[in-house]
Amino acid sequence: MRYNILVTGGAGYLGSILVPELLKSGHGVIVLDNFMYGQNSLLDCCSNENFDVVRGDAREENSLSPLLKNVDYIIPLAALVGAPLCSRDKIGTITTNKDSIASIARLSSKEQRIIYPCTNSGYGIGHKDIYCTEETPLKPISLYGKAKVEAEKILLDRGNSISLRLATVFGIAPRMRIDLLVNDFTYRAVKDKFVVVFEGHFKRNYIHIRDVARAFIHAINNFDSMKNEPYNVGLSDANLSKLELCSKIKEQLPDFVYIEAPVGEDPDKRDYIVSNEKIEKTGFRPLCSLEMGIKELIKAYRIITNSKYSNV
Ligand SMILES: NC(=O)c1ccc[n+]([C@@H]2O[C@H](COP(=O)([O-])OP(=O)(O)OC[C@H]3O[C@@H](n4cnc5c(N)ncnc54)[C@H](O)[C@@H]3O)[C@@H](O)[C@H]2O)c1
Repeated sequence: MRYNILVTGGAGYLGSILVPELLKSGHGVIVLDNFMYGQNSLLDCCSNENFDVVRGDAREENSLSPLLKNVDYIIPLAALVGAPLCSRDKIGTITTNKDSIASIARLSSKEQRIIYPCTNSGYGIGHKDIYCTEETPLKPISLYGKAKVEAEKILLDRGNSISLRLATVFGIAPRMRIDLLVNDFTYRAVKDKFVVVFEGHFKRNYIHIRDVARAFIHAINNFDSMKNEPYNVGLSDANLSKLELCSKIKEQLPDFVYIEAPVGEDPDKRDYIVSNEKIEKTGFRPLCSLEMGIKELIKAYRIITNSKYSNV
């Protein structure tokens, strides 16, 4: 089946991989994005007849309403992403991450299908050795996590929606983010050759960006049997502490040195292990391991560098 799909925030990190994959699958895609990072991530899509793009604010109903008219699916990616950015712009967070989702729920028809990217950081601080499932109560600790979880509830209450609770994403994309844990530690390992780790035993779950795109396409292809439920999406063999992640990076970069800080703490208190069994039971299998992602990042960081104010 060929569908028309609206992707808000489609020029972002996830969108810049997902949108070309949706086009490759034969779907028509229209992106609404305010290009707040000056990104040029979707230029490669512009020659595709099935692609269109609008520069605008997903919070403005005047921008949103006309785009909702002729689409079968809505994938609302537009958000202020990550706890540090959200604590810097609290009003922007509520209006973008929650209110604009409520507008989509209200302005769309009940027949239109929504696939939403939630975050598994909604699990907050987990219990040692107990896997968080979709039944585990959500206790987000940051404003980012709270707004994402509230938006998920709005959509699941609306119905005809699927929520993908994504693990921390890693891997390279045309709109790159090096503030995500695996991407960040690998960047430091390549460029600085050392990391000082705070709260090294805190565990997180991870997923490659191309597997995230596959998960969205899997949800489109299996919508009726998956709808009205949340699904954790992560690598089941990668519930790793920060120190274990460092040792995985060191396997590929033997000169990398990491130490756990004897004093100080990380403001990010997320610590949980996650079960991804529910989506696996629907037939979804990630294809990219953490090792593959680290290898890809090491290559890409020979190209990318953050040296605007340095001679080297
Ligand atoms: N990357 C992850 O690890 C991860 C994990 C779980 C969930 N998510 C969710 O996935 C989605 C995409 O995240 P990302 O990592 O691609 O982040 P990103 O910051 O790269 O992408 C966000 C996009 O939204 C756009 N945007 C922001 N405000 C907008 C507005 N008002 N109107 C229109 N466009 C706007 C930005 O320009 C950007 O293109 C977000 O909803 C995020 O919460 C991401």
